[in-house]
Amino acid sequence: MAVAPFPAEPARTNGALPDANAGAEPARTISLRRPDDWHVHLRDGPLLQAVAPATARCFARAIVMPNLSPPITTVAAAVAYRERIRAAVPDGLGFTPLMTAYLTDTIAPAELERGQAEGVFSACKLYPANATTNSAAGVSDLARLSAVFETLERIGLPLLIHGEVTDSEIDIFDREAVFIERHLEPLLRRHPGLKVVLEHITTAEAADFVRSAGANLAATITPHHLHINRNAMFRGGLRPDFYCLPVAKRERHRLALVAAATSGNPKFFLGTDSAPHPRQAKEAACGCAGIYNAPFAIESYAMVFKAEGQLGRLEAFASEHGPRFYGLPLNGDSITLVREAHTVPPRIHANDAAGVATTLVPFHAGAVLPWRLADPLAP
Ligand code: DOR
Ligand code: ZN
Repeated sequence: MAVAPFPAEPARTNGALPDANAGAEPARTISLRRPDDWHVHLRDGPLLQAVAPATARCFARAIVMPNLSPPITTVAAAVAYRERIRAAVPDGLGFTPLMTAYLTDTIAPAELERGQAEGVFSACKLYPANATTNSAAGVSDLARLSAVFETLERIGLPLLIHGEVTDSEIDIFDREAVFIERHLEPLLRRHPGLKVVLEHITTAEAADFVRSAGANLAATITPHHLHINRNAMFRGGLRPDFYCLPVAKRERHRLALVAAATSGNPKFFLGTDSAPHPRQAKEAACGCAGIYNAPFAIESYAMVFKAEGQLGRLEAFASEHGPRFYGLPLNGDSITLVREAHTVPPRIHANDAAGVATTLVPFHAGAVLPWRLADPLAP
């Protein structure tokens, strides 16, 4: 399966299907409890209008990242953003945005507590300052946030972590592993009751650490980190559409992530990290990090689970482990994946934040995928 272009049928499939669908003929459809996306960037303004429907047509709920410019640091800003998201979603999809607070060095614990009490904040997001897109206002020193962590631990509000150190002397491919050793492990020791999600894990070290920690630590895994290794960025030239942060690592790490995602372990669940950037912002001298995978995310995950002979575990990963970790009910409705080869469009038309016409390049652009999400609004 490895790097793009993606084959219509993953190379390593052993053909196994869920028990209910077992038989000589592959199932024509798969029905899944409707999934949630536990990590997505919906942006704002015209770009929000362009991308929110892709998430809402598949997922019932999504944890919405707060790294807007300026970031979402108050209850009022989150309420207003939630309204803009709701307005950008077509009627009838029943989508619920779950809002997050962007942690800064100076954020008041009382604001987080109030946001949770008022049903606005579902989690807090910790970006180490300057780790990624719109993270300049992030946290410069975890030690400054001990009162915040004490509050989160007490009220049970999950802490979502972009787990990379930012020190320029640390090799970019080592930044996640070093963050775990230097910051995450001590943080969990200091706050043993803190509920933490290590977001978009990219390494075998992260998967091992999450597996061996207590039940209060979980991780999200993106579709792109399950499909590509770092070679994808350099195949025949520089390919910015495969650049994201944390950056994809070696093949052995991709394999460790596939093993974790398809293991059935409830500590690992779906979080797309779909992060759209206008094409000209990706194809630039200093291109933005982020992969726009929302339009075909569930199809993308399904390919990986199928290749591993673990389609039967997709529903738990996509629709059960996340809500159980967050203490939310499972969704009652379902989605259907139809076994029907289709080509992912090479470009998706959108308007950028300033309203200027642009295009987005979706993950799997131009590839033929074997599954297609049935139209949720079809009669
Ligand atoms: O690749 C990424 N893009 N990683 C992040 O952490 C942020 C995201 C974005 O907002 O574009
Ligand atoms: Zn993200």
